[in-house]
Amino acid sequence: MKPIRKAVFPVAGLGTRFLPATKAIPKEMLPVVDRPLIQYAVDEAREAGIEQMIFVTGRGKSAIEDHFDIAFELEKTMSERGKDLSVLEPTRLGPGNCAYVRQQEPLGLGHAIWCARDIVGDEPFAIFLPDEFMHGTPGCMKQMVDAYHKVGGNLISVLEVPHEQVSSYGVITPGAQDGPLTEVRGLVEKPKVAEAPSNLIVSGRYILQPEVMRVLERQEKGAGGEIQLTDAMAEMIGTQSFHAVTFDGARYDCGSKAGYIQANLAVALERPDIAEEVRAFAIDLLQ
Ligand code: G1P
Repeated sequence: MKPIRKAVFPVAGLGTRFLPATKAIPKEMLPVVDRPLIQYAVDEAREAGIEQMIFVTGRGKSAIEDHFDIAFELEKTMSERGKDLSVLEPTRLGPGNCAYVRQQEPLGLGHAIWCARDIVGDEPFAIFLPDEFMHGTPGCMKQMVDAYHKVGGNLISVLEVPHEQVSSYGVITPGAQDGPLTEVRGLVEKPKVAEAPSNLIVSGRYILQPEVMRVLERQEKGAGGEIQLTDAMAEMIGTQSFHAVTFDGARYDCGSKAGYIQANLAVALERPDIAEEVRAFAIDLLQ
């Protein structure tokens, strides 16, 4: 079984739901308390043993590259002033640990992943959708990599949502269940509520075999006229093992404003330096 060494982060999206905040900065740079969303995803990847981060970017996303670079002037000034630089430690991705590739047209998530095919090469890889903020210990990808070591093949993280929300997501047809692992018998992208096979949705973390790139190569369009990753994965069911992992932790949909605020509040209430003050304020505000 080949180890999971590489992760793809599709970050080319325009982030129109957060305008005007995202006019000049990528949505992935919006902070949850004091760390940008993309940093949480990279930290989650590192915790799972992943070494190379592949960002599929687009125009206007250079802040992400700057974030993971060495900020020479900042570091020099801070060290001259005797400031602690450890806070910057997780932001430094060395040249062997990151790669950037552009998705030139918004043709869909499947297309974004396919843009990384040459860097991924012939090995299994992880995918992170940074909007989906998965918060737990161990992290979601670590839980998935542990499951991968048991069953191999392809894995996706899933969670239950109220039935009326399934049309916003990829949905699985569940098979046999064994603890947090569920066999995936089918996958459909953004089904109508009445046609959805379950209320278990694909929640933004994937471990896939490289063969998925061969399917994506055909560039077939699916839901919304986009090249869908879900459709490519659906084709692999039956030819390769496919499991879903139910994440033991909390998930915040940071692609929505309410989810983003919830994530900020939840993380703030866990931070020893601000928790007490935030809690007192929240209680006061709600009364
Ligand atoms: C994408 C995927 C979908 C998944 C969702 C999770 O959809 O296509 O299968 O359930 O992310 O957030 P999008 O949110 O890009 O429409």
